[in-house]
Amino acid sequence: MAEDFSYDEIAENFFAPVYPIVAKAILDTTGVRTGRLLDLGCGGGHLGFELLDRGDFESAVFADANPEALRVAEKRAEERGLRPVMKTSRQDACALDLPESSFDLIVSRGSMPFWDDQRAAFEGIYRLLAPGGWAYVGGGLGNAEIGEQIKRKMTEERDRNGDEGPWCFDRKNSKALTDDEYRALFAETDAELTIINTDDEGHWIILAKPAA
Ligand SMILES: C[S@@+](CC[C@H](N)C(=O)[O-])C[C@H]1O[C@@H](n2cnc3c(N)ncnc32)[C@H](O)[C@@H]1O
Repeated sequence: MAEDFSYDEIAENFFAPVYPIVAKAILDTTGVRTGRLLDLGCGGGHLGFELLDRGDFESAVFADANPEALRVAEKRAEERGLRPVMKTSRQDACALDLPESSFDLIVSRGSMPFWDDQRAAFEGIYRLLAPGGWAYVGGGLGNAEIGEQIKRKMTEERDRNGDEGPWCFDRKNSKALTDDEYRALFAETDAELTIINTDDEGHWIILAKPAA
């Protein structure tokens, strides 16, 4: 994804119903509603904002490789009065440069398929988690019904506009590992790993770091 940020139009117009469902699933599964939040590959920040609205987080870092995404997220934070708790940070998920053990909840939606070095990214994410912290990383379209509606709209968009554009991401180009490879990645660590991989919820790698 280059520095063009046309994806945001899709997030606004097509994916809007997805974020509340994903945010609720994250909060229900992890039980983390306070502390420090990181939204990695945040794009325009839709998931991070949904979590800030629903939880009681003391601070949030919205991180992305694309400075234009960060600019959009900052503008939205301003409009929502969230600028005091929200910071942005330009980060490559594969070479995370943030303090160790500094987040209680790390979320990432729709970014993982673009990460060239999945091992480095997941090791980095785990390193950034505070003891007792959780990471919820992957992708999903909310539920099967909303997912089908979105896929229909994306196909219409593709038919209208051709094969170039953010509506054209093909899962076969995903750089995600297989679930067994993710399991192997964490087999030797103290991480508690859960993988969700269903048509309804999508594909999520969930990590819990034991409390100290
Ligand atoms: C499909 S968008 C998803 C945005 C947002 N999380 C959402 O759910 O609407 C993917 C985002 O991941 C970012 N991204 C891709 N590769 C990245 C990397 N290696 N490190 C950090 N961000 C990355 C892109 O810039 C883009 O904003």
